[in-house]
Amino acid sequence: MKILVTGGAGYIGSHTCVELLNAGYEVVILDNLYNSCEKAVETIEELSGTKIPFYNVDLLDYDATEKVFEEHKIDSVIHFAGLKAVGESTRIPLKYYHNNITGTLNLVDIMQKHGVYNLVFSSSATVYGMPKTVPITEDFPTSTTNPYGSTKLMIENILKDVYAADNKWSITLLRYFNPIGAHKSGKMGEDPKGIPNNLLPYVAQVAVGKLDCIHVFGNDYPTPDGTGVRDYIHVVDLALGHVKAIEKKTGETGVHIYNLGTGNGYSVLDVIHSFEKACGKKLPYKIEARRPGDIAQCYADASKAAAELDWQATRDIAEMCEDSWRWQSTHPNGFNS
Ligand code: NAD
Ligand code: WQD
Repeated sequence: MKILVTGGAGYIGSHTCVELLNAGYEVVILDNLYNSCEKAVETIEELSGTKIPFYNVDLLDYDATEKVFEEHKIDSVIHFAGLKAVGESTRIPLKYYHNNITGTLNLVDIMQKHGVYNLVFSSSATVYGMPKTVPITEDFPTSTTNPYGSTKLMIENILKDVYAADNKWSITLLRYFNPIGAHKSGKMGEDPKGIPNNLLPYVAQVAVGKLDCIHVFGNDYPTPDGTGVRDYIHVVDLALGHVKAIEKKTGETGVHIYNLGTGNGYSVLDVIHSFEKACGKKLPYKIEARRPGDIAQCYADASKAAAELDWQATRDIAEMCEDSWRWQSTHPNGFNS
């Protein structure tokens, strides 16, 4: 079975490609390398021992995207390609709407034209907006707090309409919580451009000496230690969730929605202390004001994925930090190290 992975050179896409190849699937990657590099594709090839067809193509380029479907008989698409920086999306919303939504419209239109009706889409826990309680189940109300999140929710709704219009589709919406960690080999991991926005890559760069001090955004939340609580999930567990979604849902028509999280919440200070253990040193941090738009707690009820996809995250926070550190310490400048 041949799977087209859009955004396959990116952080989650690259780890997913390795796990798909390990599970015996054929993979074709489409990525415009806007937020990634060709070295990621080479590393997937190295780790899997497989040569992969790679297309340096922008989903906004309809003809170039269609050519991939002309050259390969694609059975299923996993659609990771998109812009993902929340803060940036508030400054350049049109770019986010255009890239994420038009890119998806092109992709789905081409899939339909070529009779490919199996799609797994990278959604996000961001579609739960400001959840009233935790843990979060898939039937919680959806809303968004920034343009990035709005693109995710709009795409979910577009895909529901696509299914309603044509019941041949099998669409799986995977709502990720907070992916961190890296491949066990230390050869592949998150490679953010510029100063990281997310907690874990920031902590990792302080640990490796690229940044001076961690800024903890608020310690007056109604949480056990006052800092924000999130559901951090190892990127390899997340990747394996995609393999299960392909295995269990391909050909099952409908719109299937799953939370991919661990079901556990860890605070900012928990993460810092776990990372200290992993890297063997104390990390400087400073408590600062809350970051606007942040919520106190966000973690998944992941029981639907356990029951229906036969999938559960198995890697704990210590392993997530150890694997991140192995990658960060050997690749202080990411794939360009
Ligand atoms: P990433 O930026 O590492 O990967 C996305 C990839 O898509 C990049 O390689 C980028 O070059 C490519 N891309 C972007 N626009 C494209 C276009 N128009 N045409 C072709 N390629 C394009 O991000 P990631 O962390 O791997 O995230 C993958 C997906 O998961 C994204 O859709 C993201 O919104 C979603 N997601 C990520 C997180 C997270 O915290 N990392 C959480 C929830 C959901
Ligand atoms: C985690 C915790 C911060 C940075 C974001 C997106 C979400 C999803 C995942 C894509 C919070 C605190 C952070 C720092 C800190 N992405 N923090 N100092 O905000 O939960 O989720 O990534 O879909 O949509 O919003 O992740 O890693 O930014 O923050 O104290 O330098 O760490 O306040 O409590 P977040 P994060």
